[in-house]
Amino acid sequence: MKNIRNFCIIAHIDHGKSTLADRLLDFTGSVTDREKQDQLLDSMDLERERGITIKSHAIQMNYTYEGEDYILNLIDTPGHVDFSYEVSRSIAACEGALLIVDAAQSIQAQTISNLYLALENDLEIIPVLNKVDLPSANPEEVTDDIVDLLGCDPSEVIPASAKTGLGIEAILKAIIERIPAPKGTIDEPLQALIFDSVYNPFRGVETYFRVINGSIKKGQNIKFIATGKNYFADEVGTLRLTQFPRKEINAGDVGYVITGIKEAKEVKVGDTITDAKVPTTNPIAGFEDVKPMVFAGIYPVDTEDYEDLRTSMEKLQLNDASLVFSPESSAALGFGFRCGFLGMLHMEIIQERLEREFNMTVITTVPNVSYNAFTRKDPDVPIIVNNPTDLPDPSGLDRVEEPYIKATIITKADFVGNVMSLCIEKRGIITHQTYLTTERVELVFDMPLAEIVFDFYDRLKTVSKGYASFDYSPIGMRVSKLVRVDILLNAQPVDALSALIHADNAQHIGKKMCEKLKELIPRQQFDIPIQAAIGAKIISRETTKALRKDVTAKCYGGDISRKRKLLEKQKKGKKRMRQVGNVEIPQEAFMAVLKLN
Ligand code: GTP
Repeated sequence: MKNIRNFCIIAHIDHGKSTLADRLLDFTGSVTDREKQDQLLDSMDLERERGITIKSHAIQMNYTYEGEDYILNLIDTPGHVDFSYEVSRSIAACEGALLIVDAAQSIQAQTISNLYLALENDLEIIPVLNKVDLPSANPEEVTDDIVDLLGCDPSEVIPASAKTGLGIEAILKAIIERIPAPKGTIDEPLQALIFDSVYNPFRGVETYFRVINGSIKKGQNIKFIATGKNYFADEVGTLRLTQFPRKEINAGDVGYVITGIKEAKEVKVGDTITDAKVPTTNPIAGFEDVKPMVFAGIYPVDTEDYEDLRTSMEKLQLNDASLVFSPESSAALGFGFRCGFLGMLHMEIIQERLEREFNMTVITTVPNVSYNAFTRKDPDVPIIVNNPTDLPDPSGLDRVEEPYIKATIITKADFVGNVMSLCIEKRGIITHQTYLTTERVELVFDMPLAEIVFDFYDRLKTVSKGYASFDYSPIGMRVSKLVRVDILLNAQPVDALSALIHADNAQHIGKKMCEKLKELIPRQQFDIPIQAAIGAKIISRETTKALRKDVTAKCYGGDISRKRKLLEKQKKGKKRMRQVGNVEIPQEAFMAVLKLN
């Protein structure tokens, strides 16, 4: 056990975590040439395209240092706030962390939030200054920033370039010399932390774990404490680029177990694995059931595809336990599903996977958070509102609570004013303002989660010219004055366009929604009045004027290719239209409320 090192890499997005991981694998000879591809750890296509490590994985390397053989387990962590619980569990499986900081970008919001998670878990931190090869790198200044943040000695910061390979040997040396060996003992009952799982359609769910005490053996009867279920360990092994089956995995080490589980939701990240006959009395602390934060309706474009959509969602859920869904129906859209996601990125991923892997064409409605509504009749029992149409009638409503977050933003001093105005507009209340250096400021706000769902990231980027990073964590429910803004097309309410909005902004947002819908809804053979209403009161109105001419008429200048292009564009647009009453609504219209500026 004294020659095992378990570590993770924590970094702000794009600071080079995956590239550095590849370099370490290379340097330790853990990859053969044939296996070499860019971004080895990002195995899902979608991950590769987005450049975001969505699912954490683990990989074992061998390295000989000063004549001794070491086992280095690298536990990869996801790089996006939507998956922060998974980050925290991966971190809990390690004794040390490489803290990667981009030498041009310096410390960003996620650098800090991940660092706090690592410090809470008593991890040894090895600061790495990456991308020193960049012409825009600012190594002295950024080293100072790191020293200020960690209170370490400048000599502890390792200059590196995951691109050129500079500093890789020094990093390996630091992993061995600075990170403590795991502590546990093999003689106690099995106690292993689940930090990840991967769905394999042929073999069932592969569960990744770190053994704290005891050992896990092939053929053992094991128990998952949080779910209370027992399984037979068909296969255990270590993770390289492929799996290596072994007889047992002992205290201190990292591995996988296959038990024939067919559904991802049976394996909960953070749960403890123990022996079924001699269970530990000491489950690993920190287990949480992950709760979806953002909800939206997903409907088939073609109503006849409802059953296919259900089958696809069920299959998706088998390998993504954080996706939840239940059937719902909309007067406008017919039958579909109300789905819960970890965040906006997770929502986009699910939508994309439905389309790519299952060939579905779907309409997604405006995402919203989950509210607690209390009626005057029953003021102590919350009604959970995951869909604006479920809000009880305002006449009997006592109060509504909405989820709040602590939002941490790091920006340049020049943009503090802009960021402040944006956050205040988004109903944020500032709680801290700290100058990290003379140039860089950390701002902390209490803010409604709903406000970051509504077009926050993009605007933050704009007002800070890209120099702001952002992270958040939930801080509970608070009472808010919320009203439902309904949209009527052609005098017919379209339930799928309703949104819950703070009363003070409702008028303004209702007006903007009408304007936006006017832009988005294609002109048809008749005038289409677009109205926003709160209850029976109309607060705004626009009109999409009737179409007078054939759209292609203008193009009859002989330019046939242009005409064809236009027709193709219309055809493509058609795919994502829903007929509601006698009005055709394109997908973008359902998301209009998200992008009003
Ligand atoms: P996420 O997985 O999205 O969190 O990103 P990441 O932190 O894994 O970053 P990634 O390794 O994908 O690197 C981001 C970009 O920086 C890529 O375009 C890399 O090629 C580039 N990059 C990484 N390390 C270096 C480096 O040392 N020097 C230079 N010049 N570019 C680098």
